[in-house]
Amino acid sequence: MDIEEDIRSLQLDSAEDNNGVVIPDDVKPEEVDKSEKIEEIEKSNEMDEDPKQEVQAQPSQAEPTVRNREIPPVQDQQDELDNQKRHLNVVFIGHVDAGKSTTGGQILFLSGQVDERTIQKYEKEAKDKSRESWYMAYIMDTNEEERVKGKTVEVGRAHFETESTRFTILDAPGHKSYVPNMISGASQADVGVLVISARKGEFETGYERGGQTREHVQLAKTLGVTKLLVVVNKMDDPTVNWAKERYDEIESKMIPFLRQSGYNVKKDVMFLPISGLIGTNLQTRVDKSICSWWDGPCLFEALDAVEVPLRDPNGPFRMPILDKFKDMGTVVMGKVEFGSVREGDSLLVMPNKDQVKVVAVFIDENRVRRAGPGENLRIRLSGVEEEDILSGFVLSSVANPVPTVIEFVAQLQILELLDNAIFTAGYKAVLHIHSVVEECEIVELLQQIDPKTKKPMKKKVLFVKNGAVVVCRVQVTNTICVEKFSDFPQLGRFTLRSEGKTVAVGKVTGV
Ligand code: GTP
Ligand code: MG
Repeated sequence: MDIEEDIRSLQLDSAEDNNGVVIPDDVKPEEVDKSEKIEEIEKSNEMDEDPKQEVQAQPSQAEPTVRNREIPPVQDQQDELDNQKRHLNVVFIGHVDAGKSTTGGQILFLSGQVDERTIQKYEKEAKDKSRESWYMAYIMDTNEEERVKGKTVEVGRAHFETESTRFTILDAPGHKSYVPNMISGASQADVGVLVISARKGEFETGYERGGQTREHVQLAKTLGVTKLLVVVNKMDDPTVNWAKERYDEIESKMIPFLRQSGYNVKKDVMFLPISGLIGTNLQTRVDKSICSWWDGPCLFEALDAVEVPLRDPNGPFRMPILDKFKDMGTVVMGKVEFGSVREGDSLLVMPNKDQVKVVAVFIDENRVRRAGPGENLRIRLSGVEEEDILSGFVLSSVANPVPTVIEFVAQLQILELLDNAIFTAGYKAVLHIHSVVEECEIVELLQQIDPKTKKPMKKKVLFVKNGAVVVCRVQVTNTICVEKFSDFPQLGRFTLRSEGKTVAVGKVTGV
């Protein structure tokens, strides 16, 4: 085990983070220890097109409940590559009331997904609830509780397209009570839009300890959000009025923190000023008469320019299940993390090892013949009852199934323990790993890692405090599916939470 490499990745340094992607030039020896994997890499090398573009969206006769019509099997990967836009999952994160839903709603409005009449209806409804300025947020906040309180609870999901890209927007809640929902949203995304309010006092509250700006950034990095667009929002607010000083102040405070959280600020982060409510600098660049000093792109341009690394479409299939329901059989929802799926495939539902067959695959409302990594799917299965599936289960290839464990070894970085408690054997917390949420207990501390030398310390470790990096054995009550971080980062990185706060981030080093 290359400890230094491991620690760097535990500290979530983006340099190490290929996000589960095979970048052939960059392949580390331990990642290709299996000859099978080398073969996969060679295969992916041969394909010079973006694997995401392989997915063939069926033309629009698709409705949510699609008939079980015969679709010819895929003959050749190449025949599906024509004219396909790339696809990106974008999660909106940030402190409560920063303007995530408003900005998301405005994007949908500007891209023609919402008509004027609906907006007028929302304006009236918002007014009736004495929440006039929230009408744009109503596009994303669809349930009554969210509209009455003006706070997102469930992750909102919507789609829009630009010339080059299909986007799925995931609108996470900012309120600290709903961090578990935010985690589920962020775990589905590769790109984050971190929304920060520039309004006087609001940036400060969000950025303080206990504010969600920090927590969301740390979680996003841990959950595999490799790129961040930091939008400094509410630039139209009277306390801001597009002042360059305020924008610069926020940028200069955020940069060191983003760096600390593991983002390579030059490569993976971009800042831009916007007004989500007015819709300024979103689809078109802000007018010089409003903001004379901004020469950079607008949000749509920035989103279009985001490059996420290619993922290997040929690896063993892994799709953590987020949700399931009954609809002409058993339907599971989730994001494909590795490999590809096509109609007719035989797969396993792990950890129960239920043998299933793929009856149909849907991206949004469209039935497709096959789908590759990074796609959010609904898959109709035969061979399993809906009751026998729980979220956190993993749909997995038969030949190379995901490991199942009740105990694993992990490297943890302790962020902030409640009331400065000590972290020791017997410590209990809630483990969030891909779509799993489980009670866990630390059963043994194995080694503490010296933050300076990045090497394991010699002396036996019985407890550690905030900021420590420690290798330990973690136990869960029910069997779960995890992978070693070095093999499958998305299924091997996790967070520990306690009483509603994130106390540690970590990665699985042994299963
Ligand atoms: P949570 O879902 O609770 O985390 O909040 P959110 O980040 O989704 O914020 P939301 O979009 O609900 O907006 C909160 C408030 O900020 C509303 O009153 C919005 O009208 C206001 N707001 C959002 N964007 C802007 C903006 O660009 N300018 C101004 N002036 N107000 C804004
Ligand atoms: Mg919201």
